[in-house]
Amino acid sequence: MDQQKLIRKFDKQSALYEENTRKRMLREWRQRLIEGVSGDILEIAVGTGANFPYYDMTKVRLTAADFSPMMLKRAAGIANELQMQVNFIESDIEKLVLPEQSFDYVVSTLSLCGYDNPAHVLRNIRQWCRPDGRICLMEHGLGNNIMLKSAQHILNPIAHKISGCHWNRDIMQMVKDSGLQIERMEQHWGGMIHLIWAVPDNS
Ligand SMILES: C[S@@+](CC[C@H](N)C(=O)[O-])C[C@H]1O[C@@H](n2cnc3c(N)ncnc32)[C@H](O)[C@@H]1O
Repeated sequence: MDQQKLIRKFDKQSALYEENTRKRMLREWRQRLIEGVSGDILEIAVGTGANFPYYDMTKVRLTAADFSPMMLKRAAGIANELQMQVNFIESDIEKLVLPEQSFDYVVSTLSLCGYDNPAHVLRNIRQWCRPDGRICLMEHGLGNNIMLKSAQHILNPIAHKISGCHWNRDIMQMVKDSGLQIERMEQHWGGMIHLIWAVPDNS
């Protein structure tokens, strides 16, 4: 899909994302995913800041990137309400250039479904993270059940057209192929939701 069209699609969805952020959707998983993070944090494809309420701002310096100006505007509003200092970057994550090994944690929630080349983003995540840092992912993808998988494959073209998200990505395989070393993971909703805590495998 043309990049500008995709950005407009996410701009239009930003009001709904803000509503979900205010309703604390997926609170339990988000809270658990980023519990204990500290230091320099990079959150990619931040949306409207759905994870902001769960950061301990006394312990983190947060940089947050997204390519949708409306998502970022709403995220800035949420940050302001929570009295959080956030360094916002408006950029396509697939083209984002940041110094290597500059973050203690890289956080991504519900973002790998969106990129044209998620493998490239995962490789960059690994490089942006310090060698002793951590990567925290909460991503949706293919479920475990064969019927569910088939439905996800069939519905994927329409899902992508409507929302900009792919429904049929094999998240575990992508993360394993990226060279990240998984320390802990959880699967929910028939294996469609993955919570992954990983380290950059620099061996
Ligand atoms: C499904 S939303 C998730 C938002 C947020 N991370 C959350 O957990 O609610 C996907 C987000 O990724 C952003 N996004 C998608 N593709 C992107 C890209 N190539 N570069 C930057 N942001 C992108 C969208 O603008 C949107 O904010």
